Amino acid sequence: MKWRGLMVLMVCAAPLVATAQTGVNVPPSGSYVPRLGDIMNTVQTRHMKLWFAGKSANWDLAAYELRQLKAGLVEAALLYEGIPVNNVTTMAQPVQSVADAIEAKDGKKFAKVYADLTSGCNACHQSIGRGYIVMRVPDTSPFSDQQFAPQGK
Ligand code: HEC
Repeated sequence: MKWRGLMVLMVCAAPLVATAQTGVNVPPSGSYVPRLGDIMNTVQTRHMKLWFAGKSANWDLAAYELRQLKAGLVEAALLYEGIPVNNVTTMAQPVQSVADAIEAKDGKKFAKVYADLTSGCNACHQSIGRGYIVMRVPDTSPFSDQQFAPQGK
């Protein structure tokens, strides 16, 4: 059941994943297991960057950040058995909707489905006794060293 949910999540963004096969991100072998909170911190970073990329209509970057975000969630669920299955599965739909909005380069739809995605984050946090970790749509970017607008704009 858990695997089924994960497969849904993995398959949903398959077109996005396919574009990532550049060969530069093949992990080395080893047994380092990141802590769940650390995986979530990277998911948070991607969640934020995804927003600023989408707001700037930088759809290539948005697709990349969504891919990273999704990989983080899959990793969390695979490594940490205690994470509730349902909440992983229910992320599949909002992730797909964000992927669709990116594909369509639709800024208005992006803003709406991004909010749905964020609700999905919070639903899991609430269900697992972490209701005090509340995600929301960011306002100003803390990443002043990264350009979010597409090159040349
Ligand atoms: C399936 C469950 C689940 C989903 C979905 C989920 N999280 Fe989490 N998240 C957790 C759990 C569990 C923790 C607490 C980890 C711990 O106690 O070490 C957590 C913790 C966090 C933290 C706190 C990290 C820290 O140490 O300060 C952040 C930030 C976070 N999540 C962001 C997100 C964002 C953003 C999303 C959505 C894109 C998301 N999470 C989706 C389960 C989930």
